[in-house]
Amino acid sequence: MNLFLQAAIEIAREAGSILRAGYDRPKEIEYKGEVDLITDSDRRSEELVVSRLRERFPDHAIVAEEGSRQETANAKYCWHVDPLDGTTNFAHGYPCFCVSLGLLQDGEPIVGAVLNPVYDELFTAALGEGAYLNNRPIRVSTVPALSQSLVATGFPTHHRKKSANINYYWEFTLRSHGVRRDGAAALDLCAVACGRFDGFWEFGLKSWDTAAGTILVREAGGVVTDIDGQPYRPGGRVLIASNARIHEEMREIVARVSEQVAKA
Ligand code: IPD
Ligand code: CA
Ligand code: CA
Repeated sequence: MNLFLQAAIEIAREAGSILRAGYDRPKEIEYKGEVDLITDSDRRSEELVVSRLRERFPDHAIVAEEGSRQETANAKYCWHVDPLDGTTNFAHGYPCFCVSLGLLQDGEPIVGAVLNPVYDELFTAALGEGAYLNNRPIRVSTVPALSQSLVATGFPTHHRKKSANINYYWEFTLRSHGVRRDGAAALDLCAVACGRFDGFWEFGLKSWDTAAGTILVREAGGVVTDIDGQPYRPGGRVLIASNARIHEEMREIVARVSEQVAKA
């Protein structure tokens, strides 16, 4: 197996144990913003992941959500780490959260490991080596049209009033079997990779939310682009992921609603 992926899996499992233990205990919750939560488990998980990555890959760069950085001059490789994606779910006892580790080589996602420690679901992928759920190969769905699809989205926890996503949500609701909002972007992308969702879109996601999920969707046969249909790069403003078959329909809706929102 790819050595970077092997490391990501081992570290995700260790971090997953921290999250699992924290999930069963009373949580220390603080606010980073109006509804942007952080718990002691976010911090503990990040400390573990970042220290393990530093030990193993001293010449790799690291960007992690809660502020840890390792900057190395002209680093070819950079890890993007969400130590706990789905903090709001975690804090409320809703078992949809994960640790997500994605590795970029010269800006392109090449390795991803995402673990939901409650369901013990480990999603993994490496460039050219396929995508897996608990070591079994996964593929995106074969749903041919948006009208027969189940799609997902998410809403930001900061600058909430500036988000126009409710307009897109409405349009996708009318054009699909339904839209889900599950609260953990990394897992939403994994759900596209294994065919539970046929598509997913969101605005303003950060590189740590999407680095791992992007390689998972692509290796499972799906597509992840921006609003123009160009390959999505982690940290880009708009992310549209799908099983490929419904991609153009999704992209057209996002582009059309964006025009309407801009005129309004
Ligand atoms: C959030 C989740 C959520 C998405 C937000 C993210 P966090 O990450 O992924 O699904 O809608 O945009 O910020 O704060 O739980 O790591
Ligand atoms: Ca997080
Ligand atoms: Ca996140």
